[in-house]
Amino acid sequence: MSTVLITGASGGIGYELAKLFARDHHNLILVARSADKLAQVATELQTHGITVKTFALDLAQPQSPKFLFDQLQRENMAVDILINNAGYGCFGEFVQMREEDVLGQIALNITALTELTHLFLPRMVKGRSGRIMNVASTAGFQPGPLMAVYYATKAYVISFSEAIANEVRKTGVTVTCFCPGATHTGFAARAGNNMSRLFKKVGAMSADRVALDGYRALMEGKGLAISGVQNWLVAQSTRFAPRKMVTAISRWISEKAE
Ligand SMILES: NC(=O)c1ccc[n+]([C@@H]2O[C@H](COP(=O)([O-])OP(=O)(O)OC[C@H]3O[C@@H](n4cnc5c(N)ncnc54)[C@H](OP(=O)(O)O)[C@@H]3O)[C@@H](O)[C@H]2O)c1
Repeated sequence: MSTVLITGASGGIGYELAKLFARDHHNLILVARSADKLAQVATELQTHGITVKTFALDLAQPQSPKFLFDQLQRENMAVDILINNAGYGCFGEFVQMREEDVLGQIALNITALTELTHLFLPRMVKGRSGRIMNVASTAGFQPGPLMAVYYATKAYVISFSEAIANEVRKTGVTVTCFCPGATHTGFAARAGNNMSRLFKKVGAMSADRVALDGYRALMEGKGLAISGVQNWLVAQSTRFAPRKMVTAISRWISEKAE
């Protein structure tokens, strides 16, 4: 029975991933800020006969990743699968964005993800077994006016994950970068882009469908996986179109739908 650590497991894609692992009898370590929601998820998933440990932590705080790692070390709990899923975005022009949101997105989407990977990867490499999945986004394939920081953080996640996947390719450890497109979760309400053309006109996938794609990609040890055929096509198209055009379309999609 392996142990899976999932960040951002109190709702959305992380919660759906946790359900899939619970059904397949993996023990779980779940992290998010909301202790009450985590407790509810733990109670629900323990019915599958697994152990579920929860940590109510704000991973955007600099000390949190190391605190989590040390706590698990102290309890002799090994992590076989790490899923860096927690992330958030903020809609609005960069010039008007609150500093706490500019830095907060970087702290959670980039710093915490990188530090957790750096903390948990060595033991996996030493044991020649383990899996990591970093949740990026199709946002990472192009610049994102009106969500400039968020899109840039996800470009980092894609680049970082593909690079380390290459570095560890002969160690028995896999690193999967998973890219959902728009998905029905609490994400858009928190970001403030739930009225955008992306969510209103283009349409979003369900969180359980997206999680299933992620689960399969991780278990198959894929390097890069994009959820949904439409999202895959859009991601491919950005590689051939002129950058300025791609950026202009990206802005149009982020703008409020009439
Ligand atoms: N939904 C989309 O359209 C979409 C598209 C592409 C990629 N993604 C990516 O998918 C991942 C999951 O997003 P989601 O759509 O499932 O969003 P969500 O419904 O907002 O869930 C986010 C999860 O992360 C946790 N979280 C947020 N801030 C945290 C913090 N500072 N420390 C610890 N945990 C924190 C939340 O729990 P608490 O609030 O309890 O902390 C929640 O469990 C993110 O990386 C996101 O960027 C989402």
